[in-house]
Amino acid sequence: MTQPHLFTPIALRGLTMANRIAVAPMCQYSAVEGCAQDWHLQHYGSLAASGPGMIVIEATGVAPEGRISPHCLGLWNDATEAAFARLVPALKALGDSRIAVQLGHAGRKGAGGRPWEGGGPAREGGWETISASAIPFDTAWPAPRAASREDLMRIKEAFTDAARRALRVGFDAIEVHSAHGYLLHQFLSPLSNQRKDEFGGKLSNRMRFPLEVIGAMRSVWPADRPLGIRISATDWAEGGVAPEDAVTYAKAFKEAGIDYVCVSSGGLVPYAKVPVAPGYQLHLAELIRAETGLPVRAVGLIATAQQAEAALAEGKGDMVAIGRGFLDNPRWTWHAAQALGAEIPYPPQYMAALGKYWPGAKLARPESP
Ligand SMILES: Cc1cc2nc3c(=O)[nH]c(=O)nc-3n(C[C@H](O)[C@H](O)[C@H](O)COP(=O)(O)O)c2cc1C
Repeated sequence: MTQPHLFTPIALRGLTMANRIAVAPMCQYSAVEGCAQDWHLQHYGSLAASGPGMIVIEATGVAPEGRISPHCLGLWNDATEAAFARLVPALKALGDSRIAVQLGHAGRKGAGGRPWEGGGPAREGGWETISASAIPFDTAWPAPRAASREDLMRIKEAFTDAARRALRVGFDAIEVHSAHGYLLHQFLSPLSNQRKDEFGGKLSNRMRFPLEVIGAMRSVWPADRPLGIRISATDWAEGGVAPEDAVTYAKAFKEAGIDYVCVSSGGLVPYAKVPVAPGYQLHLAELIRAETGLPVRAVGLIATAQQAEAALAEGKGDMVAIGRGFLDNPRWTWHAAQALGAEIPYPPQYMAALGKYWPGAKLARPESP
């Protein structure tokens, strides 16, 4: 039987994923001083038992002030490393998913509150933020401090140090967060970067700091493991990053050693006009894929197995990331396989749901995605 595109393996450097489905990185706002908790074990554990090719652990700060909120994960000291050293081997023992971590620095969008507590800047436990320029994200947000050269050196070192720690705890891949208006994106966009030095101005200058970070991380991350990146391929705002700029910097990222791009969009300015609809970022993924030749992961309101399969069949991506679909249904992968008629491994402990190894009638499966 021919497997659908979604269920064929894909290799990135020395890493092979059993299928093209990734769990999109999704902040859980449930860490304590950057350390993963039992919540993370059950949340990612349930997903790891359910067969996606890759799970991308949520945005993880490379420094305390690089977190999106005081409740976000981090990887900057021995305690945060030890928490991951408990989590990552457990996830690998639960299934065959490759485990990646999204490493990032939130810049001017750091020190935020939990969404379910109203979002905006955190009411307690915040810090002074830093960015390319001293331009606040929004009127309710404090102005960040413009990063000095020393700050940039320190942040670059934090990214490399986190990569070394990621290797020690056994992550299979790193995904650099350069999307959604966080620090690296703040350097890339002229709306947030108005520096007058070699890190601001024309695009080749604005991408200098992200490129330095990527180069430094690549030098400590093993040659057989993929280093991916997530980008916002448009700011959806006048004067901001446009898709052709994203093509230019994605090509430069490839030269610097990036192995795949997850193509997202927006997040830089609150007034962006995002045409949210099913598959609304697929044309951006298709463009980046065609122009750079890099393996691309498409994301954004891909909800059904058929939609995901069509995106791959039509050349709009090499992989898909599913976010909210997995929150709603951690078994998305199994149900997608069923909907597309693919054969995939299934944990024997749960085979009773298929009518196997259990006397009596076969139980009805829930609706497929
Ligand atoms: C609760 C939640 C947390 C998120 N956290 C992150 C994150 O840590 N890093 C990131 O790049 N995107 C984050 N996102 C965006 C998702 O990765 C994804 O791109 C987005 O939800 C669109 O995909 P979907 O329509 O399949 O949910 C988050 C989204 C949600 C819903």
